[in-house]
Amino acid sequence: MEVISSPEEMQKKAFALKRAGKTISCVPTMGFLHQGHLSLIREARASADVLVVTIFVNPAQFGPSEDYRTYPRDPERDLRLCRQEQVDIVFAPETCDIYPDGYSTYIEENDLSRWLCGVDRPGHFRGVATVVTKLFNIVQPDVAYFGQKDYQQSRVITKMVKDLNLPVRIAVCPIVREDDGLAMSSRNKYLNPKERQESLCLYRALSRAEKLVMSGEYSAVTIREEMEAVIRQEPHSRIDYIEIRDGETLEPRDQVGEGTLIALAVFIGKTRLIDNLVIEKVPRSLSE
Ligand code: PAF
Repeated sequence: MEVISSPEEMQKKAFALKRAGKTISCVPTMGFLHQGHLSLIREARASADVLVVTIFVNPAQFGPSEDYRTYPRDPERDLRLCRQEQVDIVFAPETCDIYPDGYSTYIEENDLSRWLCGVDRPGHFRGVATVVTKLFNIVQPDVAYFGQKDYQQSRVITKMVKDLNLPVRIAVCPIVREDDGLAMSSRNKYLNPKERQESLCLYRALSRAEKLVMSGEYSAVTIREEMEAVIRQEPHSRIDYIEIRDGETLEPRDQVGEGTLIALAVFIGKTRLIDNLVIEKVPRSLSE
């Protein structure tokens, strides 16, 4: 496994691979890898000749009062895991290589970014879109893998790729959960044992929503109220949002149907967690 930190060297390597007729898959990450990342890496491994994992904690996607400085990092362990997964290249640049002094160019997606996490995290998706574009330009992937847990992120990136005619296919892989249902996230590390218990309310709320839909309750207002009631049972929880939206456009929906996204962001103590569910099918007899 090669570890490359220079963007110029990575890009040169990528162009050489392309000239040799190789396909490249890419898994962009901020490191502190968990099973969710590993599931993306395994999918990506099988889909191209050369697999590149990028590890870069991107300052541009954190707000001034967010956790950029304290975001969990463990580069040694990340490299060990990548080696185990037979990653070909880890691209792990320094911040000054990606944003050198005087850096002043940003990419903004201005539709899907407005909602959900975009409300309380202004500039977040601008930071994500900018770094992902740069990583794509450097790594030249044919296909790039993202997790459904960051549903809005995957929609923003898919839209950006389409709008900018970037020659890369975006693949979105299912959420990976702990045995008790908590969606895997590097930020789960912030939770103390009590908060870890309370964090299960996100999954419980989504499960409640799914059960309601499967029993024929499609009203967004009712589903949201029921989800709120589940979350409020936990003393250290604070709801940022519970949203019921079209899974493609992210426009609000009054009624749940096939392809509807149910998404939530909840603070457990100081830790902000997100999770979501896409309703694949509503019961047949009820949808007719
Ligand atoms: O999902 C993440 O880890 C990050 O937002 C990403 C896509 C690597 C961009 O920094």
